[in-house]
Amino acid sequence: MTVAGTSGFGGLGMNISVETHSPAETQDLGRCLARVLHPGDVIGLEGDLGTGKTVLVQGLAAGLGVTARVHSPTFVLHHRYPGPVPLEHYDLYRLGEPDWHDAGLDEPAPGSITVIEWAERGAPLRDWTTIRIQLQSVSEHVRRLTCLKGAERVEECFRSDADPGH
Ligand SMILES: Nc1ncnc2c1ncn2[C@@H]1O[C@H](COP(=O)(O)OP(=O)(O)OP(=O)(O)O)[C@@H](O)[C@H]1O
Ligand SMILES: [Mg+2]
Repeated sequence: MTVAGTSGFGGLGMNISVETHSPAETQDLGRCLARVLHPGDVIGLEGDLGTGKTVLVQGLAAGLGVTARVHSPTFVLHHRYPGPVPLEHYDLYRLGEPDWHDAGLDEPAPGSITVIEWAERGAPLRDWTTIRIQLQSVSEHVRRLTCLKGAERVEECFRSDADPGH
């Protein structure tokens, strides 16, 4: 995993960008991110088909102690995975901009962690997101994940003193 920041790794408040070289590395990143999340957090994932949003959510879920297999909600827009901290998983791909609230996302769930694939389809969600991550395909096996909001939180997860017990 390669981490770059616009002012170096310690640049608090700057966007940070991470490159992963396999699905396993993207899952590791999700696991790492889970350590710094709190109930009520809303993570918006933006990026084209196949950029690794669901793979990241799989790692996130594993890090949160969710044991169910995580996959993209295909015919439904939302899955709720029970766990020590429940995970609300939305995928807004099938929604046009005016219908985004039909997903049932009326407000952030205070007791859960919410993760939204295709968050760019629901512009109002931007106000709710505590962390926004854009995913891009660089090549067949390389993905670039750029934190557009909450970079200081994401940086925490790379610090060795982040609470591993979450
Ligand atoms: N570094 C990488 N990180 C994540 N996935 C990768 C990587 N390299 C290759 N892949 C492949 O890219 C695909 C990512 O699929 P995934 O379902 O996570 O994408 P997605 O962004 O959720 O797409 P969709 O918008 O269709 O839901 C998988 O087939 C995975 O094996
Ligand atoms: Mg997906």
